Amino acid sequence: MPKDAVRILVTGAAGQIGYALAPMIARGIMLGPDQPVILHLLDIQPVAESLKGVRMELIDAAFPLLQGILATTDVNEACKGVNIAVMVGGFPCKEGMERRDVMHKNVPIFKAQASALEQHAAPDCKILVVANPANTNALILKEFAPSIPVKNITCLTRLDHNRALSHISERLNVDVRDVKNVIIWGNHSSTQYPDANYAIATTDIGEKSVRELVADDHWIDYEYINSVRERGAEIIKARKLSSALSAASAACDHVHDWIIGTAKGTWVSMGVYSDGSYGIQPDIIYSFPVTCQKGEWSIVQGLKINEFSREKMDTSMKELTREESLAYSCLNQT
Ligand code: NAD
Ligand code: LMR
Repeated sequence: MPKDAVRILVTGAAGQIGYALAPMIARGIMLGPDQPVILHLLDIQPVAESLKGVRMELIDAAFPLLQGILATTDVNEACKGVNIAVMVGGFPCKEGMERRDVMHKNVPIFKAQASALEQHAAPDCKILVVANPANTNALILKEFAPSIPVKNITCLTRLDHNRALSHISERLNVDVRDVKNVIIWGNHSSTQYPDANYAIATTDIGEKSVRELVADDHWIDYEYINSVRERGAEIIKARKLSSALSAASAACDHVHDWIIGTAKGTWVSMGVYSDGSYGIQPDIIYSFPVTCQKGEWSIVQGLKINEFSREKMDTSMKELTREESLAYSCLNQT
């Protein structure tokens, strides 16, 4: 029996990530090679022509899994019946803008989109927030869509997770698929904590701890952490634009693993609603190591946290609580 099509919303679809992401979804990279999809593409009126162009290209690519495309600038229409929502659209951080200015622009956008999703999306719609500040935008979305289960609202830290895997694979000269169980704790920002203490690599002598294989604590505790944290800024410097194809690919990985499941013995990083695990303040969207089964994520429990890690996890948590207050102050001013 052919499967029913899944409706996937991509906001900011005429932007850089949207342009990379839509064809990946249509090719089955997000939900697999036997899952038909219908794309709902949302952007704003000033780029309506460009959005039309994206739609034309998607048609011309003749993707066998793509059963329909709705391209619109109407948020309510875009959200109708969607099963998955990938929230990429937002006001970009321009030169000279402070984080506060970016939040001032984006928080009201997420408030409005939350209401549209709440009213029009399918009841079990799963949401991935990509637009920055991703964790706090996801929290605002949660706040203004109270009937959507909190477990369905997540943000993207899989790009940082994938960067962490790649950094280790390069350092050890092993294939990236042979590295697993890195962790990104916290905010998708420069305070995130890329933790390699539980990372494992498979080499000719079997599975071994990455820390043992690297045999250089300074690299694991400083160089690796900083290079993962700074990778986004490094890409902006090189491209004069933020990461797009890697962000789109990570968004596919995030949704794929959430819905289809993580491989046995493997975890991934996702920004999810904190339940207080590992002493992280409940009610913020924080990146944890998770496993997924049958469309549900669960935070990996029981990892021992040393003092070094504790301090870094707490620093990112404190940044998120500050961002939360800032977001509310922005809302009060609008
Ligand atoms: P972009 O500027 O190329 O595209 C953003 C698109 O959003 C534009 O087409 C714009 O018109 C649209 N938009 C603006 N307001 C909108 C609204 N109210 N509704 C719908 N669409 C709207 O930016 P990009 O490079 O595609 O990046 C998008 C976002 O993703 C940025 O916030 C960026 O910082 C973030 N990002 C996050 C990660 C991550 O790992 N979480 C990685 C890379 C980029
Ligand atoms: C990234 O990690 O590449 C982006 O979040 C950077 C950015 O500010 O858009």
